Order: sequence, then C-alpha cells, then structure tokens
Amino acid sequence: MNALVRYRVARVGIPCIWRRKCFSSGNEPAESNRVTPMLRHLIYKIKSTGPITVAEYMKEVLTNPVKGYYVHHDMLGEKGDFITSPEISQLFGELLGIWFVSEWMTSGKNTAFQLVELGPGRGTLTGDVLRVFSQLGSVLKNCDISVHLVEVSQKLSEIQALTLTEEKIPLERDAESLVYMKGVTKSGIPVSWYRDLKDVPKGYSFYLAHEFFDTLPVHKFQKTRQGWREVLVDIDPQVSDKLRFVLAPCTTPAEAFIQHDEQRDHVEVCPDAGVIIQELSQRIALTGGAALIADYGHDGTKTDTFRGFCGHQLHNVLIAPGTADLTADVDFSYLHRIAQGKVAALGPVEQRTFLKNMGIDIRLKVMVYLTNTKYLHLKFIYK
Ligand SMILES: C[S@@+](CC[C@H](N)C(=O)[O-])C[C@H]1O[C@@H](n2cnc3c(N)ncnc32)[C@H](O)[C@@H]1O
Repeated sequence: MNALVRYRVARVGIPCIWRRKCFSSGNEPAESNRVTPMLRHLIYKIKSTGPITVAEYMKEVLTNPVKGYYVHHDMLGEKGDFITSPEISQLFGELLGIWFVSEWMTSGKNTAFQLVELGPGRGTLTGDVLRVFSQLGSVLKNCDISVHLVEVSQKLSEIQALTLTEEKIPLERDAESLVYMKGVTKSGIPVSWYRDLKDVPKGYSFYLAHEFFDTLPVHKFQKTRQGWREVLVDIDPQVSDKLRFVLAPCTTPAEAFIQHDEQRDHVEVCPDAGVIIQELSQRIALTGGAALIADYGHDGTKTDTFRGFCGHQLHNVLIAPGTADLTADVDFSYLHRIAQGKVAALGPVEQRTFLKNMGIDIRLKVMVYLTNTKYLHLKFIYK
C-alpha cells in the first residue's frame, strides 16, 4: 500500500490498516449507566450551552486535560481496552523502520532527519523503528537523527519515556514549554515531546501516525428531507443522567466539509484530520521527507463508524464516557484531497499487502529460525 508519487523532493505515503470492528452508536442493549466525572461534566456543559456536536463530545471525552480518557489512562494491551499492531509484534515496527530507511536512501541520503511520531501510545513503535536504525548503523552512519513525539497524554508520555530513554540520563521537564519533556534514547538519540505537531521544529522529517487519526473528533451528519442535519449529543429527558443523540434543527458550520455530490445518507467528517494533513504536506513540500499513516479506514464509502471500546469489547459510546476508547474510521479520500497538489499521496492499501510487500514473511522465517537455533543451542548446552 506503500504507493508513492514524487512532488519535488517531497512525498507522502498513506498506507491504511483495516481493522475489522463492528459499529456501535449507542443502540446496544442497556449497559450500566455509571455516572462518571466526565458524564457529570458533559451534562453540566449541555445544560449551560445546549446539545454539543459529536466532535466536541469526542474531544472532551478523549482529551479533556483534566478528565480525558487518553490523558490519565494506559489503555493499551491485554489489561487495557484495545491492542494495536506494535503491541502485538515487533515485526510491524521493524518493517516500518525499513520503509523509512529505504525512503531516506532513495531520496538522496540527507545528512540529518527527524523521526516524528503522532500519538506514540506506549512508545513501542518508535522503539522498534529505532532498533532498525541501530541495526542499520553502517548505512545511517554520519546521519544526524532526532526523535520528536507528539502526545497529549501525560500518562502515556511517561510510559514512552520509560520505553525509550536511558534511565541514567535524567529527563528535562517543563510543563509550561511547548517542548514539555526532553531526553536521550537508549541508543543515544535526542528525543523531545510536544502537544502539537505545529511545535515540532521544521526540517527534513519522516512522520509516522499509527492509530492516531481515528482518535480525532468527527462531526456526524444525517441526510434528511430538509437537507443535511448534524447529529448532536443531548441529555435524555426521559432518563436522568443519560445522554442521547438528536438531530440539529437547522444547518451547522461543519456541513461545509461535506462534498457537494455526496451520495451517502450518513457521513462523518473530521476537520482536525484535514488541519494535520495540511500541516504535514506543507512541511514535506517545504523541507522534504515522507509520512506513513496507518489506520483503519475507508475511501469515502463508509457511513456510521463511530464506536467505543472497553476491555476489548464494543462499548456504547454514550455510556460511562471517559471509561472507554472512542474511535471513527479514517476517510482516506478526504486526506488525499487535502494533500493533493502539495505532495504526492498514495494508497491506501491494506495492511496485509503493505507488510507482505515489505517482506514480513521472510522476516518472520528468520525470526523463527533464530528462535529455533537458540533453543537447540540451549538444549545442547544443557545436555
Ligand atoms: C489509539 S492510541 C495509538 C497508540 C500507538 N500509536 C499504537 O499504535 O500503539 C492513540 C494515541 O494518540 C494519542 N492522542 C490522541 N489524541 C491526540 C491528540 N489530539 N494529539 C496528540 N496525541 C493524541 C493518545 O494519547 C495515544 O498515544
């Protein structure tokens, strides 16, 4: 899926990972209607200002600086709410690392580059990519590499630091600064943390976003006889402390993001994704590099994909907000439209195709062989 087209020195590769998950928009059988601090906050907000958009709901629930789901949770892994490819196998990050090295080589072996990850989770993916960089030290020698992590979660940034940095070198912290943490990776590479991509220094960069764009807030629209109407979140008048979906009585500003010839009767639009792709494209066009975006998504064909996950199970998105992950599939056709004309954007292709093209089968055979060899060797010593 790693389709690439050149635009001067700039490229953008847009692979997409399709995760098959079923939808949940609040229609499942009754679940516990726990009154969480976030639910209390939302009810107060809706009572003061009226129903809120789904985008505002998602943003509050996931990234509210005080009560947001991402801000204080470690939700990844078996004990969490969901698991991602880098948490399952090192193969994923290794192959992505090789993709970046190959891009660096074919684009003229710049003397320096930044590796920038958006939403790095537990830092596992960047760790796997950096291991490849270390293993290919002879290829990358004399190349000045730095790592830049864009993360809103304080909790996850601490875990990323544990995964990636050298314990003996203390981290520099400054909560007030745009660069809120700095350290040195285990392989001696400087690493910095930011809350926003805009704050990452400009320069030749490789950008990585895995299961990041699906967490960005979406606006939802329903086609009605009166035209498009935005789906809003309101308080259920029948049941206390319960939220429900309603339709806006008139047009709302985000309708501008719907294509004029749209054929679907329900759409999700993500202006925040557009802003980030615009920033990425401008940066790549200006200073060079490439971006690899992996997510579950579609090409402007799906309708209602907004859903929640808690303890690896589908979760009603309006129940116990702040205790479950919220996600919506990425519309890759929209990302393409934004990148068009600035950089070359290719894909999406399925994760399976991308990984196969990158040689996952061969890498797996090597790993199995090495594991077996070690095992035989140990047996030999033991006897
Ligand atoms: C679904 S997790 C994916 C983690 C990791 N990429 C992986 O594949 O394991 C989403 C990540 O994006 C971060 N995140 C969510 N919204 C963000 C935002 N607006 N800005 C920066 N990071 C964000 C979360 O804190 C988390 O690290």
